[in-house]
Amino acid sequence: MHSNKRILVTGGAGFLGSHLCDRLLARGDEVLCVDNFFTGSRRNIEHLIGHKRFELMRHDVTFPLYVEVDEIYNLACPASPVHYQHDPVATTKVSVHGAINMLGLAKRVKAKILQASTSEVYGDPSVHPQTEDYWGNVNPIGIRSCYDEGKRCAETLFFDYWRQHKLRIKVMRIFNTYGPRMHPNDGRVVSNFIVQALRGEDITIYGEGGQTRSFCYVDDLLDGMVRLMETPDEVTGPVNIGNPNEFTIRQLAERVIALTGSSSKLVFQPLPSDDPRQRQPDITLAGRLLDWKPTIELDEGLRHTIAYFDDLLSESAA
Ligand SMILES: NC(=O)c1ccc[n+]([C@@H]2O[C@H](COP(=O)([O-])OP(=O)(O)OC[C@H]3O[C@@H](n4cnc5c(N)ncnc54)[C@H](O)[C@@H]3O)[C@@H](O)[C@H]2O)c1
Repeated sequence: MHSNKRILVTGGAGFLGSHLCDRLLARGDEVLCVDNFFTGSRRNIEHLIGHKRFELMRHDVTFPLYVEVDEIYNLACPASPVHYQHDPVATTKVSVHGAINMLGLAKRVKAKILQASTSEVYGDPSVHPQTEDYWGNVNPIGIRSCYDEGKRCAETLFFDYWRQHKLRIKVMRIFNTYGPRMHPNDGRVVSNFIVQALRGEDITIYGEGGQTRSFCYVDDLLDGMVRLMETPDEVTGPVNIGNPNEFTIRQLAERVIALTGSSSKLVFQPLPSDDPRQRQPDITLAGRLLDWKPTIELDEGLRHTIAYFDDLLSESAA
């Protein structure tokens, strides 16, 4: 079946973007994957090279892009603190200039455009769980601000293009997502713990491990993303997509140890500055608008992710 849609995925060689390319191709779309390979990798998309409806373009979205497409999924942006703090000015640029360029493109070619925003727009929230109408508690001058404020500004731009230019926009606030093709060394908690457990190294917990996170498996997340893109034009979001099941960081570490059968021990280090204490999505709106809720339990998602990292580590050891 061919849907005849030409879809641009920025950040398409990244963790979420590469799974999105897979999903859109499987559905019959034509996919243009744009990436500058800052954090993405060829390995994530190499199985797609040669596919007749897949095209890869190396391009930095902070520069304008002229292509003919029907829909744009704007995912380009380093997502983990290790990567986004590496060059904080570039991080704000990719969020802000990237949004301006992709919105400009959407305006020119009358494409529908979805923004991969983030739960980080809520900062260190004083409302729990976070609903979309909560404005957030964000430090504008801290070390996470390049990402948090960049993403907030991108949301502002999306809504101004919607108000001013009647663009069809969809803003999705993504909460912690995990799965195969995450980076092995990006400091994100799930990948960190799995890699440490598989190598039999100590598992590092920042603080006492009592801070909670909710973890959404990538397949659930993408199901929500594609459903949001398909909503009627009057639906703009923002819509939270994530898994509201909360686990403490310590519980996560214990599940990873159990599922890998590792002999790793837990070690504790000081909490980095601005680390949110608690984050949990309220997904009532996603349920109502998209008829969506996550279905994959943490243990099942962890098993798939562990299998991926197991392969990756044995490949790099070979
Ligand atoms: N994974 C999560 O838990 C999560 C949570 C909230 C929001 N998000 C958002 O989802 C999107 C994808 O995240 P991910 O986890 O797949 O991260 P990722 O780092 O794996 O993917 C980002 C991709 O964008 C590319 N990129 C970065 N700068 C670029 C530029 N200037 N031009 C073109 N490409 C560029 C990278 O090379 C990479 O392939 C990001 O916008 C992120 O902020 C992710």
